[in-house]
Amino acid sequence: MKKKSIILSAFTTLIVLIIFNACKKENVAVSEQVEDEYSEPILPEQTYNYAKKHGVNNHLATLGRVLFFDKKMSVNNTTSCGSCHKQEFAFADNVQFNRGFDGQFLNRNSPSIQGLKGFKVDAVDSINGSFPNKSNQEEIVLFWDGRQRTMADMVLNPVVNHKEMNMPDFPSLLEKLKATSYYSNLFKNAFGDEEITQGRIAFAMQGFIACLNTKAENSKKNVATNNLVTEDSKLTDFEEAGKRLFHEKYNCAKCHDPLAPVATTVFVPSGGYGGGNTPVVTMPSGEKMTFMFNIGLDLIPKDLGLGAITNIGGDKGVFKVPTLQNISVTAPYMHDGRFKTLEEVVDHYGHSVKDTRTLAPQFRNMDGTVKQLNISAIERNAIVAFLKTLKDEDFLTSPMYANPFKK
Ligand code: HEC
Ligand code: HEC
Repeated sequence: MKKKSIILSAFTTLIVLIIFNACKKENVAVSEQVEDEYSEPILPEQTYNYAKKHGVNNHLATLGRVLFFDKKMSVNNTTSCGSCHKQEFAFADNVQFNRGFDGQFLNRNSPSIQGLKGFKVDAVDSINGSFPNKSNQEEIVLFWDGRQRTMADMVLNPVVNHKEMNMPDFPSLLEKLKATSYYSNLFKNAFGDEEITQGRIAFAMQGFIACLNTKAENSKKNVATNNLVTEDSKLTDFEEAGKRLFHEKYNCAKCHDPLAPVATTVFVPSGGYGGGNTPVVTMPSGEKMTFMFNIGLDLIPKDLGLGAITNIGGDKGVFKVPTLQNISVTAPYMHDGRFKTLEEVVDHYGHSVKDTRTLAPQFRNMDGTVKQLNISAIERNAIVAFLKTLKDEDFLTSPMYANPFKK
């Protein structure tokens, strides 16, 4: 009896020790993570050539890059734009929902930021020229629900968003950046003098975001389309088959142009295309646009998407069509990150489209019933193999887009 209890207590002690050590390890891991970052950005002596590659002033993009990855942009120095938009995941993240500055989960999946032209770069010069205004802003559709239309409008929102970075206001942000030693030089290089203003911050961040262009010809498929065919870049027969299924048999390209670095968001000229089945949605501003759809994920959508913005029943469950560039690294998928793999995504289109009221017409038969695409397992695998070719290694690894604070 006694022997048994000694063994038992030794065993309990062992368990306690194991748990204790496991916790200790976790603490170590957390502090290592913090120490894994430089307190100042490490920049090359000569800036990367953003101008050559993306037509954006080198110093402007450099400043934008530092701001994008600087945790000082958040109220408690824990969160930067780059905390949720990571280079290795094509400026998306690999979790279903990111946490904001205080650990609260957001309610949508972080989208990949790429190909979002902030402004017509040629039209502005940071030192001699003017700041962007409506006339030199390109209109794009931003966010899963399309609620914002220009980069200038959105770029600083996360900074003061109470769930994301939660700075109390812009004067506090300016004060903080003015007290940060490395900014005076960066602003001077970008703008000619050291003055830090909200407009300059927004402009520089747009400049960097405008550089986040995935280079089409680096993707295996695109090399093939541009006729620069090498053995490495040629699609395999299986990938070719997937490409044909994507474009021809299943018409995925009707909504997703896999070549478009930008989500294929297209504005409809007033009066619409007049071409039949393209649903046209009217934004709160009265503009008409298409390429936001309900793909039948839920019978009754929990997240109303565009419908929550417009308050129109016909817009419920309608979301922006995301880009498929670098899609193999941006899992999980959809506005709520519900699918972990591309196979699950394609199976949704194949067999699980729900008969929801605002379903895109592409998924209805002539008699109004839901059209499941009935994609077979082998076809699914071919489509996935094709989607995986849409990858730009340079974009995912080049130091010119990397976190300059990371060791
Ligand atoms: C805590 C995580 C988090 C942080 C921090 C964050 N974002 Fe985001 N970002 C998101 C999520 C989630 C969405 C999608 C929200 C939605 O659609 O409702 C998003 C959407 C976007 C979009 C729209 C992309 C598109 O294709 O529609 C852009 C651009 C963007 N963020 C830029 C930024 C910038 C710039 C910063 C820093 C100032 C930033 N984000 C900080 C999580 C974050
Ligand atoms: C009617 C337009 C439409 C068609 C046709 C369509 N899609 Fe989509 N696709 C969308 C929309 C809209 C979303 C985002 C939906 C959401 O999150 O609520 C999406 C999301 C996706 C995603 C996830 C992207 C991400 O970043 O999370 C993939 C992958 C995808 N579609 C592949 C396909 C394939 C493969 C086909 C053909 C079998 C296809 N799509 C057909 C509109 C369409």
